[in-house]
Amino acid sequence: ESEALPFVASKVSQYSCQRKTTLNNCNKKFTDAFEIMAENYEFKENEIFCLEFLRAASVLKFLPFPVIRMKDIQGLPCMGDRVRDVIEEIIEEGESSRAKEVLNDERYKSFKQFTSVFGVGVKTSEKWYRMGLRTLEDIKADKSLKLSKMQKAGFLYYEDLVSCVSKAEADAVSLIVRNTVCTFLPDALVTITGGFRRGKKTGHDIDFLITNPGPREDDDLLHKVVDLWKKQGLLLYCDIIESTFLKEQMPSRKVDAMDSFQKCFAILKLCQPRVDNSCYNTSKNIDMAEVKDWKAIRVDLIIAPFEQYAFALLGWTGSRQFGRDLRRYAIHEKKMILDNHALYDRKKRIFLKARSEEEIFAHLDLDYVEPWERNA
Ligand code: CTP
Ligand code: MN
Ligand code: MN
Ligand code: MN
Repeated sequence: ESEALPFVASKVSQYSCQRKTTLNNCNKKFTDAFEIMAENYEFKENEIFCLEFLRAASVLKFLPFPVIRMKDIQGLPCMGDRVRDVIEEIIEEGESSRAKEVLNDERYKSFKQFTSVFGVGVKTSEKWYRMGLRTLEDIKADKSLKLSKMQKAGFLYYEDLVSCVSKAEADAVSLIVRNTVCTFLPDALVTITGGFRRGKKTGHDIDFLITNPGPREDDDLLHKVVDLWKKQGLLLYCDIIESTFLKEQMPSRKVDAMDSFQKCFAILKLCQPRVDNSCYNTSKNIDMAEVKDWKAIRVDLIIAPFEQYAFALLGWTGSRQFGRDLRRYAIHEKKMILDNHALYDRKKRIFLKARSEEEIFAHLDLDYVEPWERNA
């Protein structure tokens, strides 16, 4: 039924919200290099160059064919000189010397290690690097360093948290979240968002959006949920951020703004049935009680009022690049401001309500893009 249309490079939109990007990436060779370049610029807080490479990566992820000559990218958006240089070298040499240099760069290597710890961002990494610290061992050895509660948890559960969360683990945690939420609010809607909603098979965390349809609100829900997990011994870490949303507040124009929902960044203890190795263990005298039978898992819980649910769902489903482009498109092409709470029409000076993601795309005159097509 779906006819293959001829591919016209000049018709490709510069906004990923006007493209359909699945997880079938034919240009991984290029996009991996771009993402290394982008991350290095992020570590240097050069947002312009960082976004340039992220936008280019997102265009190549969308391309339905692998790039094999420079002619293949002719007419495509977001292909600046810096980007073209990397592409040209990968075509000719099979790899990018610039990306390789970054991977071997001392500063990049340190920042990569530091930011792999939960609670450590670019700012903290910068501070540690300036102090002459280079590796995670350096950090652990420096007893004068004041670590936040979040960073302490990050180091404590480091090995579990750097290993990816599988779909099976996401499903297991999803059951726990649904059960606990429904104990307090039987009608509550619990939706997996983030990468798993986009169809990814692994993730660095699991994101849940919670809302309660109907009139009954419960501002205490999140506190009740984490208190129960504490009692059950399932909660390894939790940081609840209270909502700072003000009625009718203007949507944020910032492309990477934090939203104002009540939320919780948590680490849950997921108990895993241990593999039965008894026939080996008896002979080797390994005490089964010492075998760790659980895994620490990062979980984000977001609470949204029902009338903001569609906006929250769209924002928290990502990808981050897809969200950035939606907001940029809204402002520049529609004179509208979109954030995770609302959509504001600056010409009509009104808020545009939406009960579903489809309605938000329609307000923006965009064709609907399914969650699994938002892997920009
Ligand atoms: N997000 C947001 N506001 C935040 C944090 C995240 O709107 N303060 C959005 C981002 O756009 C992101 C999505 O929520 O796409 C989920 O965030 P995150 O868990 O960081 O990324 P994922 O896409 O789920 O990827 P990963 O597998 O690494 O978790
Ligand atoms: Mn996620
Ligand atoms: Mn992430
Ligand atoms: Mn998350």
